[in-house]
Amino acid sequence: MIIVPGPASRELGKRIARQLDARTVDVFVKRFPDGEYYIRFETKDIQSEEVVIVQTTAPPQHDSLIQLFLMVDAVEDFGAKSVTAVIPYFAYARQDKRFLNGEVFSVKTVVKLLEKCGVNRIVTVNAHNPKVLETFNIPVEDLSAIPLLAQYFKKEGLVKDAFSLSMGKKALTMASEADNVLKGGFDYVPTRRDRITGKVTLEKKKLPVENRDVIIFDDIISSGGTMAKAVKMVKEQGAKKVYAACVHPLLAGNAEKKILENGAEAIVGTDCVPSKVSVVSVAPIIAEVLRRGE
Ligand code: R5P
Repeated sequence: MIIVPGPASRELGKRIARQLDARTVDVFVKRFPDGEYYIRFETKDIQSEEVVIVQTTAPPQHDSLIQLFLMVDAVEDFGAKSVTAVIPYFAYARQDKRFLNGEVFSVKTVVKLLEKCGVNRIVTVNAHNPKVLETFNIPVEDLSAIPLLAQYFKKEGLVKDAFSLSMGKKALTMASEADNVLKGGFDYVPTRRDRITGKVTLEKKKLPVENRDVIIFDDIISSGGTMAKAVKMVKEQGAKKVYAACVHPLLAGNAEKKILENGAEAIVGTDCVPSKVSVVSVAPIIAEVLRRGE
């Protein structure tokens, strides 16, 4: 097996390769004056190999996506036996249906393009809607980084008997996965999303958080609005230390400031999206699934 750490996930790609003791092939990337990308594999010697390209598609997502399409298509040309795309953060996954008449169905388009470029299998982490990904032709494995995040809090001793919270009923699994590690109880806060503006509102809910440490888990922190509101809600209900944990810290604009200003001790994220809060690595769970070859 050969691991290609893509330009958007060089560190994570190398971590996965180390876990697997696999050979890596680097890619050289440059931009032409007009902004287009030029990519060269350091070797074309990958004929009949199982090739794994690791490339997250977090912002700047269009750069990462075009780089991914260029790489997977080339690897197929070079005669790879199979091409697995490890896409830790899957861009456009939130537009997972036509919510309003006339809308595009973005996640379908991205998967279709990957398939056309020769991808045989996709591995991703906490995809926004794994059920939708599973309806396409390419096999998709969606892994959860929530247990790794929960273990981090336990290992670092940041919280005591922490209550695990997630947002939206569909995300209750996240709080439950965290609770398997932290064992301090779990629940969710009901959410409502405005179909036109996309604005998320949290419904008021009484939670057993008074004088308790709380960790709020979400798949994505983008503008930080949802997380900031949740932090505020539990703080108003008397929570002690509150941490914001997420798999994909996109942290757009002043997201971090917003969350901290509302009372969070810190934000903890994973290297699905490289950032200054990405202290937890998903390399072990990705390496495990690649090792099993499922
Ligand atoms: C929503 O469905 C997701 O799980 C996140 O809660 C959302 O993407 C966070 O977005 P923002 O940080 O912009 O509120």
